[in-house]
Amino acid sequence: QVLFHLGEMVTATQSVTDEVLELLGSEMNYQVQVVSPEEEDRELLDSFKISYGEDAGDETDLQARPPVVTVMGHVDHGKTRLLDTIRKTTVHEGEAGGITQHIGAYQVASELEGVERLITFIDTPGHEAFTAMRARGAQATDIAVIVVAADDGVMPQTVEAINHAQAANVPIVVAVNKIDKEGANPQKIRQQLTEYGLVAEEYGGDTMFVDISAKQGVNIDGLLEAILLTADAALDLRANPDMEAQGVAIEAHLDRGRGPVATVLVQRGTLRVGDSIVAGDAYGRVRRMVDEFNEDITEATPSRPVQVIGFTSVPGAGDTFLVVEEDRTARQIAERRSARTRAAQNAQKRKRISLEDLDAA
Ligand code: GTP
Ligand code: MG
Repeated sequence: QVLFHLGEMVTATQSVTDEVLELLGSEMNYQVQVVSPEEEDRELLDSFKISYGEDAGDETDLQARPPVVTVMGHVDHGKTRLLDTIRKTTVHEGEAGGITQHIGAYQVASELEGVERLITFIDTPGHEAFTAMRARGAQATDIAVIVVAADDGVMPQTVEAINHAQAANVPIVVAVNKIDKEGANPQKIRQQLTEYGLVAEEYGGDTMFVDISAKQGVNIDGLLEAILLTADAALDLRANPDMEAQGVAIEAHLDRGRGPVATVLVQRGTLRVGDSIVAGDAYGRVRRMVDEFNEDITEATPSRPVQVIGFTSVPGAGDTFLVVEEDRTARQIAERRSARTRAAQNAQKRKRISLEDLDAA
């Protein structure tokens, strides 16, 4: 009734905006506080005196960390092939078997000005993963590599990928791929992309364009170098390794032998075997960690992706994770989160039922 008087034509089963809700509250002398799921979660963590997303300690505790890179681009422009080629061409000497398994992310070493540096690639191409993580408030990516096939040119998903990266304020490196193909025109790509604010360095802009062939392994070194140069020029990539680990789950599944297995990216702190961990509404104790070479590791520092075994259920891709001091705390946080999810689902269900009732009447 009040809303009708205010000119809002709604029934009891409809959703209203936050503003309308606040207006309704003030009309009826109630104080309405609108809390987003993110704020609610922050409050939950606050109640355990945990802060997520910030490096603890002082400026002096921060140490350089490798850039985390996501590969995006139009269908068939060569994202998967590029990630495979990078994996194959950068395998460290001595690791004869090479990267033995897909864990959703991997780290490679590349040299810049005589210094060996690491780069982390998130091996789930496509902006779904990127968007899923952003939606959960976890910016996992530092740099976006936009792959454009030189024989095909800028396509709708190229533009979409650029929009995602720009919205997230993530610097872009353009990989002009398939230069081995007949009809490839790398200069045309540079021209086309000026329209989207990406001006090549050779044209006076500040975006690095690298011509490559993922298929033939041409100029992969050049691409890695461009990534490191872009990181150094545009970003201050540092994190405190001396705190309880926090980061994001990139991929997770149920393994028949090992139970729930999650690939997580450590963003700050150091993750260790034995840590109590909570990711979304999943929790557990880190029983084992393995890297992309399927080797056991006991510690993972910032920007390191690692497979974690020991969760009691499967976390969601894009869920943030954090380490807490006690098992009990991890369990309580997870349980509070799943209770909240269930409540939201029930509310949704109730709404659907009442709408159906309405239709039937
Ligand atoms: P989606 O995952 O479907 O979006 O595609 P994608 O971007 O991952 O492309 P993918 O790596 O699957 O490559 C598509 C096709 O292009 C495959 O047949 C590749 O072998 C081929 N391809 C990729 N890179 C190159 C290249 O540098 N040169 C040539 N000639 N072919 C390439
Ligand atoms: Mg692919």
